[in-house]
Amino acid sequence: MTISLSGKSAEREQNVVLVGFMASGKSTIGRKLAKELGYRFVDTDEVIEARAGRPVRQIFEERGEAEFRKLETGVIAELAKDSRLVIASGGGMVLAPRNVELLKGRAFFVYLKTDSSVIYKRVRGSKNRPLLNVPDPLAEIEELMRGREKIYQQVADMTVDTGRATVGEAIKKIQGALKNGRWSG
Ligand code: S3P
Repeated sequence: MTISLSGKSAEREQNVVLVGFMASGKSTIGRKLAKELGYRFVDTDEVIEARAGRPVRQIFEERGEAEFRKLETGVIAELAKDSRLVIASGGGMVLAPRNVELLKGRAFFVYLKTDSSVIYKRVRGSKNRPLLNVPDPLAEIEELMRGREKIYQQVADMTVDTGRATVGEAIKKIQGALKNGRWSG
């Protein structure tokens, strides 16, 4: 079945996928946006953790990143079949083209763009992000961002600079874009 991808009908049929670096505000913005839209909020890391019965950090430690990525794709494949979801994806979700492919047909991708210095301030001292559990997290953030920035931009239907917008403003911008029918096809 082909769903009309313009205007309000599309708004009711599709998902909103938030992409961006770790600690860019995907969960905070996603939860509130979902409430505003009357959609269900899903954080893919939370689903993975619930299924694995352990935190992401422990999955990385015990099973490795590759295994985590498999679990992530499994969750994405299921969510892609659903609609009216706001999905906060993990920062590395877009690295697998398959994940993007699965979601793209019926999702509006929003890239929450955030400076490395802001990310660093937010994650400093936290042990919950295994990829940043290194001697120089700021250098690691910058290195990972160099590799990912382009991909975030490529997949995005819209970019919101979270350094320039408050949570409330970011949500208004996204809602505005949805109302204007700026859905991907
Ligand atoms: C990752 C981001 C994390 C989590 C995992 C890997 C990444 O999610 O999926 O630690 O590769 O950037 P958040 O973006 O919610 O921190």
